[in-house]
Amino acid sequence: MMHHFNKFTAALMLSCVAVTVSPVALSASPRTGISPSAIAVSKARGSAAAGHRSRTSKQKKRQLRKPDVIYYPTPPETVDEMLRMGKIKKGDVLYDLGSGDGRIPIAAAKQYGIRAVGIEIDPKLVTEAEKNAQRANVSQLVHFRNEDMFHVNYSEATVVTLYLSEKLNVLLRPRLLSELRPGSRILSHDFRMGEWKPEQTVRVPWGKLYRTVYLWTVPIHRAKTRTHHQ
Ligand SMILES: C[S@@+](CC[C@H](N)C(=O)[O-])C[C@H]1O[C@@H](n2cnc3c(N)ncnc32)[C@H](O)[C@@H]1O
Repeated sequence: MMHHFNKFTAALMLSCVAVTVSPVALSASPRTGISPSAIAVSKARGSAAAGHRSRTSKQKKRQLRKPDVIYYPTPPETVDEMLRMGKIKKGDVLYDLGSGDGRIPIAAAKQYGIRAVGIEIDPKLVTEAEKNAQRANVSQLVHFRNEDMFHVNYSEATVVTLYLSEKLNVLLRPRLLSELRPGSRILSHDFRMGEWKPEQTVRVPWGKLYRTVYLWTVPIHRAKTRTHHQ
């Protein structure tokens, strides 16, 4: 089936190719020759404790490393559709991995009254997101953490939103499956997750084009695997 890309998604994919996939030019560490995201993944695997670091707005923000993808915001109608498909209910906790200006966590708190967390590697975007949350009067429900998504523990999340790349989704998948409780929903804007088939795909009109939202639900047997390994 032909995928109908819009220009932002195409640019995002190019950036992913440049930043995440390219073996040499932009991404390889001069010391190790390994891409930053590969280093991040191996660190994330090696250190569970690293996932529990938490920064609040009072703590100093800093550029941790180069982002894996550049910033492009999800259009408001697509944000609404992602939240609708997530079947959000009271008590849910949403995590947006790579939260940009905070629009998804802020919309979740404003529209559904749930607690939401944004994980963002770029400190300037974290500051912008915090200001946006204040303006929207949801600072009590929404928190932004200046962290690398590969070092964050998401186990409290019941809904996870992504607008990254297929490659990053695939890299995140093992930890999403092992850390999230069964029944948790994962929503990805425009990017699939390798061979894990989405259970729902919705196209959201966007001008003459459309955006695509994919939904997966964390299955029960994965949770059993997690219990087994703990
Ligand atoms: C395409 S934007 C999506 C922003 C927001 N989720 C939205 O849908 O509007 C991707 C975001 O991921 C951030 N990012 C990239 N690599 C990251 C990483 N390793 N950890 C946390 N954030 C990251 C970028 O800085 C950027 O803001």
